[in-house]
Amino acid sequence: MQEFTDRVAVITGAAAGIGRGLAERCIKEGMKVVIADIDEETIRKCEAEWNDDGASVLAIPTDVSKLSDVEHLAKETLGAFGAVHLLCNNAGVIVPGVIWENTLADWEWVLGVNLWGVIHGIHVFVPLMLLQDSEAHIVNTASPAGLVAGPGWGIYRVTKHGVISLSETLYYDLAQLGAKLKVSVLCPDTVNTKFVDSGRIRPAELQNESNNQIRRPEVELQEQTLRQALSNGTSPDQVADHVFNGIRAEKFYILMQFDRGERPQWSERVRIRTENILQEVNPS
Ligand SMILES: NC(=O)c1ccc[n+]([C@@H]2O[C@H](COP(=O)([O-])OP(=O)(O)OC[C@H]3O[C@@H](n4cnc5c(N)ncnc54)[C@H](O)[C@@H]3O)[C@@H](O)[C@H]2O)c1
Repeated sequence: MQEFTDRVAVITGAAAGIGRGLAERCIKEGMKVVIADIDEETIRKCEAEWNDDGASVLAIPTDVSKLSDVEHLAKETLGAFGAVHLLCNNAGVIVPGVIWENTLADWEWVLGVNLWGVIHGIHVFVPLMLLQDSEAHIVNTASPAGLVAGPGWGIYRVTKHGVISLSETLYYDLAQLGAKLKVSVLCPDTVNTKFVDSGRIRPAELQNESNNQIRRPEVELQEQTLRQALSNGTSPDQVADHVFNGIRAEKFYILMQFDRGERPQWSERVRIRTENILQEVNPS
């Protein structure tokens, strides 16, 4: 996709972090932008502010884990702007813990947003975007966690491996069709957002019964390490730059890497994992 002016973008998870950065970038590109998020108050504020500044923005409160909400999002988008040219399935959450101790509510919440959210986006929007028969693009936000393996954050890893796999499949399926609709999978490295505090918007019905569980020291450490890494991370605007460069270049894998000092860059971890699999060597 090369033309963005007056085209229509739909961004999920647009109230904060990367989604907000993407929405702001879409506005700069002259697009009409639908901002979807479970955080209704914030997207309403953004809508008012950005429209006052001359943009064309529509806020649609959406819980991406609910099919009916995503159907409503599509209906409202078409009603207001008549088409969808760019869809960013970006909303995501994370929960710490070791997988046998995570509650089923943890699984339901994170799988609901990160995996079902993207499934709903594809299920509802791809048929509409194919029917338009015009240049269009989908960007699914995954993570390096979907390309490598490691300890902790297991539910999150499962969802992001899922997003990579479903994006790759969509890529092949659209290519076989010769569709004008393209897809990319975004793997942002550490980005300076409040992502590690995802629990702030966890729905009441999926809260854990008790918050008094004693946490393992290694889980505490994983959370501290992530918090620290994110605070030193790249900015959402830089991610948006990578995304737009990637869309223009029709890149499927939109990856971002930067030096993390002593830790191997995650690209090296992808190579090690792949070699371990091919040589039947245990995870290292
Ligand atoms: N920050 C990073 O370093 C990083 C790295 C890799 C991948 N990611 C991915 O980037 C995406 C955005 O994360 P971020 O860092 O901007 O986090 P963030 O917490 O700043 O933003 C996430 C947004 O998603 C929204 N959201 C949560 N649940 C929702 C739901 N059910 N329906 C709709 N919206 C919902 C939140 O309200 C929030 O506005 C996520 O998919 C995350 O997995 C982030």
